[in-house]
Amino acid sequence: MDQPSNASNPTDEAGPGPAVHFDNVGMRYGRGPEVLSDISFDLPRGSFQFLTGPSGAGKTSLLRLIYLAERPSRGLVSLFGEDTSVMERGALPAFRRRIGVIFQDFRLLQHLSVFDNVALPLRVAGQNVRQYGEDIVELLNWVGLGHRIDALPPTLSGGEQQRAAIARAVVSRPEILIADEPTGNVDPDMARRLLRLFVELNRLGTTVLIASHDIALIRSVNAPVLELAEGRLNRRARSA
Ligand SMILES: Nc1ncnc2c1ncn2[C@@H]1O[C@H](COP(=O)(O)OP(=O)(O)OP(=O)(O)O)[C@@H](O)[C@H]1O
Ligand SMILES: [Mg+2]
Repeated sequence: MDQPSNASNPTDEAGPGPAVHFDNVGMRYGRGPEVLSDISFDLPRGSFQFLTGPSGAGKTSLLRLIYLAERPSRGLVSLFGEDTSVMERGALPAFRRRIGVIFQDFRLLQHLSVFDNVALPLRVAGQNVRQYGEDIVELLNWVGLGHRIDALPPTLSGGEQQRAAIARAVVSRPEILIADEPTGNVDPDMARRLLRLFVELNRLGTTVLIASHDIALIRSVNAPVLELAEGRLNRRARSA
């Protein structure tokens, strides 16, 4: 069984507080009903956890709060020990760059090749992409896209797009990785391979949260599971 580095990970040199802290958070879209209620949990730095729950339970909404696409309507969300409600607008891009996100709907840039999509986070961070070219190719080989490096996203299958989106999210070794159903479009062998990539990233210090319905995938890793039902959190420790 894959063993993420939960519990004993020493990666907390980057300041006080857990990577993510929610205290009694509620969230609504516009004037609609609360889709998340009374949510409290921590993602300790260097931890690896799953988020599960039925369709519509609020998984994507909870992840959106973490990567600062939404604000809570009540309660506290803090990142790296900082209350997100008092972050200056100008500070948000720098925080977002510390978080790699695999979106449920991929969000690749349609006019850029697979290579350029994956290189983008490095470019945005001011890195010299030529220096990282071989690493990007190696990563694309690992996710089985070595033969599609120059392809444009509209010409890829759903599973290929998902793997490109995964490569883009991990390429800069973010401090937090948020993955929304990252294996929803690939076969079980590829799902296990991608999970190994997340476990490896976690071993290198990244805090990982994976939203998934895939019970077999969740059981294949000994990691805590946050369970959402109708916008509320039940916690159960897993020892599969
Ligand atoms: N942009 C939006 N505007 C209004 N309501 C929304 C919006 N996005 C989601 N919702 C509602 O919020 C609730 C939670 O949705 P969310 O997408 O977070 O669920 P989920 O657990 O990710 O579901 P799935 O497993 O299908 O991806 C649902 O009732 C949904 O209809
Ligand atoms: Mg969702």
